[in-house]
Amino acid sequence: MKSETAPEIVAGDCLRWLRAATRQVDLTFLDPPFNQGRFYRRFNDKQEADAYWEWITETLVELRAKTSPGGAVYFMHREKNAEFVLRALRRSGWSFQNMIVWKKMASAVPGGARFGKHYQIIAFAANGAKTRVFHKLRISPPPPPHHKHARQNGVYVTDVWDDIREMTSGYFAGREPLRTADGARFHKQQSPVALLLRIILSSSKPGDLVLDPFAGTGTTPAVAGQLGRRSIGVEIDPENVARIEERIRAARAADCVEKFYEYYRHTENFESIWGGARKNAGQNAERRHAGAEMPAA
Ligand SMILES: C[S@@+](CC[C@H](N)C(=O)[O-])C[C@H]1O[C@@H](n2cnc3c(N)ncnc32)[C@H](O)[C@@H]1O
Repeated sequence: MKSETAPEIVAGDCLRWLRAATRQVDLTFLDPPFNQGRFYRRFNDKQEADAYWEWITETLVELRAKTSPGGAVYFMHREKNAEFVLRALRRSGWSFQNMIVWKKMASAVPGGARFGKHYQIIAFAANGAKTRVFHKLRISPPPPPHHKHARQNGVYVTDVWDDIREMTSGYFAGREPLRTADGARFHKQQSPVALLLRIILSSSKPGDLVLDPFAGTGTTPAVAGQLGRRSIGVEIDPENVARIEERIRAARAADCVEKFYEYYRHTENFESIWGGARKNAGQNAERRHAGAEMPAA
């Protein structure tokens, strides 16, 4: 029998899927292709800017219509497109909450006659003025060099996320990236488990429905199910869809969220927010991380 939180993976176009959807979504992670000329088998990533942003806005309109009151979207994009991201959210009726700076734990992209680029933006917005769920997570990062003592009860997560490593090609990426037979990364835009963990824990409750309309490698459904959330991933490329299904079936140790539990342990009512992953982690679980810093993949 299928578990209640077994992810649903849909092969196809997300806008078509959204128009036909009959269920209400509580939280969405929106990570579309950025229109920067990258290679996608089923997407032209070099369109006229106006056409691209019209399509994004239309997607946000349909998404809001299928989102529960107060439900949330986390919309990731390049920092240089912040202006277009905010405009698309405003035009589609979403209420802006935060502009999260994801300062990646990777080298900056060098600039010529300007500063090197070190972050990506994630716009957090709600369907209505007030969010229906927002958990104020506490984390336990190592103390900054100018602090004498470690904090006893951790610190609240702010709008600067500088403790989540981007999936780069180097050894830092660890075992988390999906790979091809010759060892290359299967999908260059695979999001880190730690990023989805934070988004899902912040803005959903166990039992909620989490959507990823541009599922890619299926990071969102892979994380959501472990936290007792229902999830739907929509992906247009059949090769990616097959890989997502395989990833979910495999329940890889590198995808297991259990190792992050200690990092968030000072969050109020954390057991109820966490939603059971510790029990479900099973034999694939890596040893729980006992220290006070974001564990590596
Ligand atoms: C930036 S990647 C998402 C990566 C994802 N966050 C992950 O963790 O793997 C965007 C994905 O959207 C897919 N895509 C492009 N157009 C789409 C559409 N109209 N409907 C659904 N998926 C689409 C692409 O094939 C690509 O895998």
